[in-house]
Amino acid sequence: MKTTISVIKADVGSIAGHGLAHPALLKKCEEILGKAKEEELLIDYYVTNCGDDTELIMTHTQGEENEEIHEMAWTAFTEATAVAKELKLYGAGQDLLSDTFSGNIKGMGPGCAEMEFKERPSDPVVVFCCDKTEPGAFNLPLFKMFADPFTTAGLVIDPSLHNGFEFEVFDVMEHKKVKLSCPDEMYDLLALLGTINRYVIKRIRRRDDNEIAAAISTERLNLMAGSYVGKDDPVAIVRAQSGFPAAGEVVEPFAFPHLVGGWMRGSHNGPLMPVGQKNAYPVRFDGPPRVMALGFQIADGKLVGPADMFDDPAFDRSRAQASEIADYMRRHGPFEPHRLPADEMEYTTLPGVMEKLGNRFEDIE
Ligand code: 13P
Ligand code: 13P
Ligand code: MG
Ligand code: MG
Ligand code: MG
Repeated sequence: MKTTISVIKADVGSIAGHGLAHPALLKKCEEILGKAKEEELLIDYYVTNCGDDTELIMTHTQGEENEEIHEMAWTAFTEATAVAKELKLYGAGQDLLSDTFSGNIKGMGPGCAEMEFKERPSDPVVVFCCDKTEPGAFNLPLFKMFADPFTTAGLVIDPSLHNGFEFEVFDVMEHKKVKLSCPDEMYDLLALLGTINRYVIKRIRRRDDNEIAAAISTERLNLMAGSYVGKDDPVAIVRAQSGFPAAGEVVEPFAFPHLVGGWMRGSHNGPLMPVGQKNAYPVRFDGPPRVMALGFQIADGKLVGPADMFDDPAFDRSRAQASEIADYMRRHGPFEPHRLPADEMEYTTLPGVMEKLGNRFEDIE
């Protein structure tokens, strides 16, 4: 039997402003997923939120991109949206770009990371959930996790990882993908991954046997909708131990709060702060961006856990450093590189300003 993990997420409303998904939304989703479990469509589920994003973590045996699973998640989000509208929550139904379900939740607004595998005797899995950032935020930590020997000692000292991993990278602008292997093609890979708004890691596999190691949601809402509808706050699923990085190697890259896009109005760079669930609530200037890590053991499809992995005092200094970087970045106000470059901003007054100033622009002698 193979187990599928599907993590499907959407922002369907929050308090106050883009802060925190209301508990009534999680409850509504739990109701729908609970029914699906009773009907044996799901084996297990865990509903949570990172900031204003509601995440459905689900296990089943239906494989990836299964219509029934996707439709059930869509129903959960549309019913939660109805609750959000009643409560006049902020951004009710924000990430749902369509009125009706059409076979696959991809391209409809919600983010989706899925993987199918045969369970090992013990199968630790870490689910990462972010708010106020974009899928490319995972490029740097995932590269470190699966390709940097100074992060993952196992790449050097564990024979089961020593041959490295293959990265599947999406070009989200051109809708193309490419596979690159590490360590051999590391420099080519990094040449792409540094452009975080365009090239994003979709999947990582172990080279020895092509076994799935990681899956990431790569939906870019703003590209799909064609206008500002919030950032595409991503999720990722990563397998750990026995042939994969150890759980501690999986979380280690997040000790460095690197700069990512998506803070305030989806238009600012800020540090990605690793937080426990209770602090997955971005407030200051709607941020700074957050990431949380939920650790599970998968047992015959059951989700045993979660362990709240960033709720660890060893990450306190990373959080303090993120706050310091937040101060530094904030002092730039509306200037780059705090504010994103014009073509990456989620909304802008520039066309209007240019129109107004139109005939006041003169040629430079
Ligand atoms: P154990 O000795 O507990 O199996 O841990 C091994 C390991 O991977 C630690 O990082
Ligand atoms: P979300 O993408 O989390 O809804 O944030 C939007 C925003 O503009 C926050 O300032
Ligand atoms: Mg929102
Ligand atoms: Mg969000
Ligand atoms: Mg969003």
